[in-house]
Amino acid sequence: MSEQSGSIDVLRSQIEEAGKLGLAQVEAAATSADLESARIHILGKKGTLSEVLKGLAQVPGPARPQVGAVANEWKSKIEAAIAVKKEALEQAAMDAAIAHERIDVSVPSRRNHLGGLHPITQATRLVISILSRIGFEVATGPEAETDFLNFEAVNIPKDHPARDMQDTFFLGPGVVLRTHTTPVQMRTLMERPLPLRILSPGAVYRCDSDATHSPMFHQIEGLWVDRGIRMSDLKGVLDFLAKELFGSKAKIRLRPSYFPFVEPGAEVDVSCTICEGKNARCTMCKGTGWLEILGAGMVHPELYRAARVNAEGVTGFAFGMGVERIAMLLHGIPDLRLMFQGDLRFLRQFP
Ligand code: DAH
Repeated sequence: MSEQSGSIDVLRSQIEEAGKLGLAQVEAAATSADLESARIHILGKKGTLSEVLKGLAQVPGPARPQVGAVANEWKSKIEAAIAVKKEALEQAAMDAAIAHERIDVSVPSRRNHLGGLHPITQATRLVISILSRIGFEVATGPEAETDFLNFEAVNIPKDHPARDMQDTFFLGPGVVLRTHTTPVQMRTLMERPLPLRILSPGAVYRCDSDATHSPMFHQIEGLWVDRGIRMSDLKGVLDFLAKELFGSKAKIRLRPSYFPFVEPGAEVDVSCTICEGKNARCTMCKGTGWLEILGAGMVHPELYRAARVNAEGVTGFAFGMGVERIAMLLHGIPDLRLMFQGDLRFLRQFP
């Protein structure tokens, strides 16, 4: 019996020993990592306290709870000490961070790369926003167009010399990449009831490429059909557009010209607002004082016939302009090719 009580005392003091040592280790921990390894070292499955407690199995029944209670007491003491230490270490880490980390508000921020609209898109939207104020609505058509609508219906029959003016990309029998936005005039005449006042912007294609021609470029077509529409209405609309685009000093002039889909037809120039005709060496107007911006005229009766529209008592005007040309004039861009190179040094100038 005394031998047994002796072994209980040994176990009890072993527990105390392991407990005290453990507490000291917890106290000594200088970092969270130290603390965690101390916890494992003491309370882990093979920890010092756990190892000592394996001796508990040898303790005779009645004494076992007493020794167990001592062990649990130490266990909770150590756990409490770990919790306190943990909080203290976290607080210290936070204090250190606050003391050392500083926000330097004078450091330039990372640049925010904002995309922008291409000058062609900007010019397109500008023309639409100007003319929508006087009632024009946008209508669109496909870029792959039928030969019929691109040519035939707008009065350019198969053997017509005007087909040579437009070098066509053929996609297949009866289908072309539209060479102009004029077929959208036909589509709207066929689809919408009169009166009509539409603008159709979009890409067009011609087999042509040099300093002043791109195989893909953009046009905006205008069409106004109603009772009593006259050539003077065309002039008024284009004069309004020119002044809104290039400033109140801008003037327009119409020169007689030929387009199969209009009669009479005209080419329209805008006065050079860069030199106002005063500089013989002006790079924009070459000293002429005028810049060609579009083609226009009164809708040819053949178009109503092809669209099977009863156009009795109505007349209309149409115009078609190159958007690249408008953008170049607006910004003084010297070379058409700059528009299609995607060079950010160029594009960033049009935020
Ligand atoms: N479709 C012509 C071209 O691409 C431009 C044009 C001229 C359109 C006269 C028109 C117009 O509507 O009336 O060159």
